[in-house]
Amino acid sequence: MSAGDFRFPKDFLWGSATAAYQVEGAWNVDGRGESIWDRFAHTPGKIKDGSNGDVACDSYHRYREDIALMKRLGMKTYRFSISWPRVQPTGKGAANAKGLDYYRRVTDALLEAGIRPFPTLYHWDLPQPLEDAGGWPNRDTAQRLADYASIVADALGDRIGQWSIFNEPKTFTHVGYWQGTHAPGRSDPLAMLRATHTVNLAQGMAFRVLKAAKAKPQVGAVVDVAPMNPATSSVADMAAAQRWHRFLNHWFLDPALKGRYPDDVLPPSRMDELLGIQAGDANTMRAALDFVGLNYYSPWIVRDAPEGNGIPGLNTKAEWAAGADEKTDNGWDIYPRGFYEILKDMSAHIGPLPIEITENGAAYNMVPDKEGHVHDRKRIAWLQAHLRELSRAISDGVPVRAYHCWSLLDNFEWGEGFSQRFGLVYVDFPNRQKRTIKDSGEWYATVIAANRVV
Ligand code: FCB
Repeated sequence: MSAGDFRFPKDFLWGSATAAYQVEGAWNVDGRGESIWDRFAHTPGKIKDGSNGDVACDSYHRYREDIALMKRLGMKTYRFSISWPRVQPTGKGAANAKGLDYYRRVTDALLEAGIRPFPTLYHWDLPQPLEDAGGWPNRDTAQRLADYASIVADALGDRIGQWSIFNEPKTFTHVGYWQGTHAPGRSDPLAMLRATHTVNLAQGMAFRVLKAAKAKPQVGAVVDVAPMNPATSSVADMAAAQRWHRFLNHWFLDPALKGRYPDDVLPPSRMDELLGIQAGDANTMRAALDFVGLNYYSPWIVRDAPEGNGIPGLNTKAEWAAGADEKTDNGWDIYPRGFYEILKDMSAHIGPLPIEITENGAAYNMVPDKEGHVHDRKRIAWLQAHLRELSRAISDGVPVRAYHCWSLLDNFEWGEGFSQRFGLVYVDFPNRQKRTIKDSGEWYATVIAANRVV
């Protein structure tokens, strides 16, 4: 194909994404409360390299430098998250003025730099006292999130045109409450199911709170999506892949858009009991989302599992893989075509709603050479291949209006600690947090400037 084949629409927004716990640091500064990620990372043995997010990229103090980097690369949108325990330290009651001031300063600096501030309310850092009270499996947590949303909307509403509520609800419920390898580290499939329902209630409630703001913002959801490839062409594996598709890709959108859970995931006769559904919940979950944010990294291989997986009736096992030969440095399969496939698929499912790509990127762990340059050719190839697929999907009618690369900076990659680098900008953590734009960052700047990928 020729260069011109991979153009993007006029007014397409290019930018990058981060999350509070992964970049801010300053974990106990200016009245910030403890989150489940502080507690988890401070517990020996939970994080691969024994690290934590206490300092991370120190963006709490260096946000001006980070915004200058975005500006220098031509970015026009920045997806960041607000730390709940920074603005409401115990997850209940009064707001922490200093925490809110920090986000006011960040949004003002972004606006001044001509970059859209695009905050996510919840990127996994639940205040620890709320986990002590039962966490996401406890449905009272939904009201807590709605109260927090109202604090943030009052403080920042005049500056924000687009809000996202949750980041990847599938990940933090499944990995946090079922697999136990993310905070809060519980391994209880039934608690996970309850957690998913509380999150769906919270999404509807927070949606209404944010929409009530004077500024009339757009409010959306951010979900991680992936093609579900059956392990074999057997009827049983194909049915399992369909179940998994509904459970992972639709579970947090259908309740908002249709007021109901997808069929054929849980046994119908046990749905209410397993999820803790009460009268009126269908309406509470509803949210006429203004846009949908999609995160894409890699597909799954799915098979039927008559032996079960701990979730009643959901006899499915899945592996985070695509059967590809090539993998990124954290072992994720490289499968760019999956980006096109899932975009087409999700767009058909949600109808004409605008889509934003809220995360997409790769872990490659190159370090600076003697001259201080980071030649991360593999990340460029990864991004190029994925952006071509994105351009193709847009040409084929998928209404994508923005792309956020994960991530602006190398940062604290959850259970992997600092062992995986996703940044367009290298961060030398021990050497006074020095930032160096990688080759991929410079390459991305040329894509942004040309509004096309060659
Ligand atoms: C996503 C998370 C994000 C980051 C990337 C690599 O699942 O939303 O915070 O860790 O993976």
